[in-house]
Amino acid sequence: MTSPVQRLFDTCKEVFAAGGPDIVPPAEDVERVKAALDDMKPEDVGLKPDTPYCHIMAADRLPIVARLDLHECDKFSIVIFCLPASSVIPLHNHPGMTVFSKLLFGTMHIKSYDWMVDGSSGTSAVLGNPQIQPSGARLAKVKVNSEFTAPCETSILYPANGGNMHCFTAVTACAVLDVLGPPYCKPEGRHCAYYRDLPFTSFSADEASSSSMPEEEREGYAWLQEVPEDFRVVRFPHEGPTIRKDN
Ligand SMILES: [Fe+2]
Repeated sequence: MTSPVQRLFDTCKEVFAAGGPDIVPPAEDVERVKAALDDMKPEDVGLKPDTPYCHIMAADRLPIVARLDLHECDKFSIVIFCLPASSVIPLHNHPGMTVFSKLLFGTMHIKSYDWMVDGSSGTSAVLGNPQIQPSGARLAKVKVNSEFTAPCETSILYPANGGNMHCFTAVTACAVLDVLGPPYCKPEGRHCAYYRDLPFTSFSADEASSSSMPEEEREGYAWLQEVPEDFRVVRFPHEGPTIRKDN
């Protein structure tokens, strides 16, 4: 019988075969990957909720996120992040990617954003447009701002929507299984950028758009400003069930 992680790998191999940057798989293929992830349990990838990977501390006693790489090729990658309680994967993007995130155990807070785009042309706002500031801060809309507790459904983000920029905060020790298609690739311009989010009123307090907007609605927006990478993660080889990759 095919193991759940083998089924996931085989499905990804088929679904992302014709993939590339900004290519979202057809809806039925997205559903196939989601279905392969939805029932995935920690033991299917060789993890237990008390895994030592969720209890790694740095010398300064700050918790460190562990990363277990299950697979990486030029079409897709499968990665597990193990987060100690109160650790954070800071706000970051997924350029041109479709990403599936399955919480395996624990409780995690997810906050995610999508860029505001110029509705008339469908392209991103450009310098000089009020949606981007001279500082580089760019207007984004909140997509998700909630806590999730396993078992829960797989969440999916897309190149231009679904919360392409997200931040994970571990409410309890937790682990998340991510499928990325295509993977990050610096030479091809798909590097992971990190951001800080600034309140909507940071740049918009005097503008008519702000003053006419109800306060609760302003909380649905933020300015995202790219910041240098400051995310400590330690990589470990994955020792869970073997995946046959040659079929
Ligand atoms: Fe991510």
